[in-house]
Amino acid sequence: MKGPIPENILEDILGKIDIVEVVSGYLPLKKAGRNFKALCPFHHEKTPSFMVSPDRQIFHCFGCNESGNAFKFLMRYERLEFPEAVELLAKKAGVILPQTSSEDPKVASLSTQLYRINELTALFYESRLNSTEGAKAKDYLLKRGITEETIKTLKIGYAPEKWDALITYLRAKSVPLSLIEKAGLILPKENGGYYDRFRNRVIFPIADIKGRFLGFGARVLDNTLPKYINSPESPIYTKGKNLYGLGSSRDHIRDKDFVVIVEGYLDFLMPFQAGLKNIVASLGTALTQEQARLLKRYTQNIVMIYDGDSAGELAALRSLEIFIEEEMSVKVVSLPQGSDPDTFVRKFGIEKLNEEVSRAVNIFDYKIKVLKTRYSHKEVEGKAKISSHMLETISKFKNAVLKSEYMKRLAEELDIREDALFQEAAKINNQRERFDSVSPLAQRKTLNINPTERMLIKLMLEESELIHRIKDSINPADFIDERASRIVTLMLDFIEQGKKIEASLLIHHLGDEEISKIICESMFLQDDLTEKNREMLANDCIKRLRTEKIKHRKQSLHEQIKDAQDSGDKQKLEGLVQEFHTLIKKGEGT
Ligand code: GTP
Ligand code: MN
Repeated sequence: MKGPIPENILEDILGKIDIVEVVSGYLPLKKAGRNFKALCPFHHEKTPSFMVSPDRQIFHCFGCNESGNAFKFLMRYERLEFPEAVELLAKKAGVILPQTSSEDPKVASLSTQLYRINELTALFYESRLNSTEGAKAKDYLLKRGITEETIKTLKIGYAPEKWDALITYLRAKSVPLSLIEKAGLILPKENGGYYDRFRNRVIFPIADIKGRFLGFGARVLDNTLPKYINSPESPIYTKGKNLYGLGSSRDHIRDKDFVVIVEGYLDFLMPFQAGLKNIVASLGTALTQEQARLLKRYTQNIVMIYDGDSAGELAALRSLEIFIEEEMSVKVVSLPQGSDPDTFVRKFGIEKLNEEVSRAVNIFDYKIKVLKTRYSHKEVEGKAKISSHMLETISKFKNAVLKSEYMKRLAEELDIREDALFQEAAKINNQRERFDSVSPLAQRKTLNINPTERMLIKLMLEESELIHRIKDSINPADFIDERASRIVTLMLDFIEQGKKIEASLLIHHLGDEEISKIICESMFLQDDLTEKNREMLANDCIKRLRTEKIKHRKQSLHEQIKDAQDSGDKQKLEGLVQEFHTLIKKGEGT
């Protein structure tokens, strides 16, 4: 978390904003004692385990262990980079940031310029669609049933039928050619000079969730090929990182708690316009982990709609497994042969499409149905084929309960024994453990910090009075856990500098994900200790730390001694034994 933004400015921001206010801008928070509670936005749950502490200015989820300060919350919730989260909160806090907030000012300014060029370009194409030269494109869109309103909302445009329409426009605004080329909007001619990439096409701007234009998709007005030309990748546009329409649909996705994924621009536009607004388009490429994670911010539930033609393709289904790996739920709708979501809505209406969506079939059932049309599940060979395809999908489930449930169902469907499936599964993955060891408990990433160390950190963080009284008897080196030791070292540093100890600041200074979790988790541990109890408990913890440390050291010495004995290293052995004795004496003293 170390950026070029000065520490004191970050502290200033954290001091001026209130995390409760920040979070409640996104989630309904309920008071729970001194803290606030909500359903965790970072994993799916039915009872709230997401806590926000106004005293500590941190959040923590006991379900998924996500935690941190206000910056972290925004980074996770809005998918912002650290400097972006800082910028946003600085505005809220009324703190003025020094220039260059991004890590590499050169890259930042290039991106900023490219976004700006794309924005100018989108506006240009939009204006062309509404001019006389764009009349035929407008006509084409309206004939396909796209309304003026949709055209406006999604900033659909038209690239004129000229070689230099955009170049001329951007040059008049003094945009350097080299940058227009970097944005992928023009191509070099053989004998020097450039020409427009998009000509005589309908333009679909591709925006990210912040409304910045990353690139464009461009469709012909007739049946000539290629049907679409898209922006190439650029410093601001990487394919597979975004989903078309997400900027317009994300609030609806959150509300409905599921997202419909379609393949094409038009397949997005038509349902969206007709009122199915929790929708995005993959733009005809295989879905990526990044896209899955992007959606996961808004929902865990995916409904994929396939065209009638591509529905039976196993390759297409395989692309959905990325969602299983992300522990999301995936259902599939396949439209009748010859229909895609666009034509389906025009032919049968949106209610019918909504009905199809509500009848979406879970990926396991869907895939087995597809396989059964392809192989005979009554014959031995067919059973083997079907099970090997199905096991590939089942192996992607991380949840052991789901996994074993699907294994059972597959065995039933094919009328074979479950243990045969397990054997095959082990072969496929070459690691049977994946089927056995993943328990739901193991999934909850516990931090595994020793309770004494955690309690002591909690006590120190909660009572600045207490830490002053006990600071001299605390030695960071007594902590076995390296992470705990770093936390305590920083706390003692803070005290030495006369700084107030605040969890949200510590987290920031340490800049380490795991350490932040330890701090946040300890802060929310429930207790009903009185002040006197606290000090006694703290002293008790300190004592216990020492004995634990000694025990730990003894153990390690014991092992080293055995090693030295085995290797016959007498000199080493002597030293070790001596240390061992000293340690025992020390242990007796405490
Ligand atoms: P219509 O045919 O007008 O209904 O468009 P569509 O958006 O429904 O397209 P289709 O279902 O044929 O294809 C799905 C998506 O794949 C499109 O939206 C494009 O993103 C992409 N695609 C289709 N054809 C091409 C092509 O020729 N070139 C490229 N680069 N992408 C294409
Ligand atoms: Mn189509």
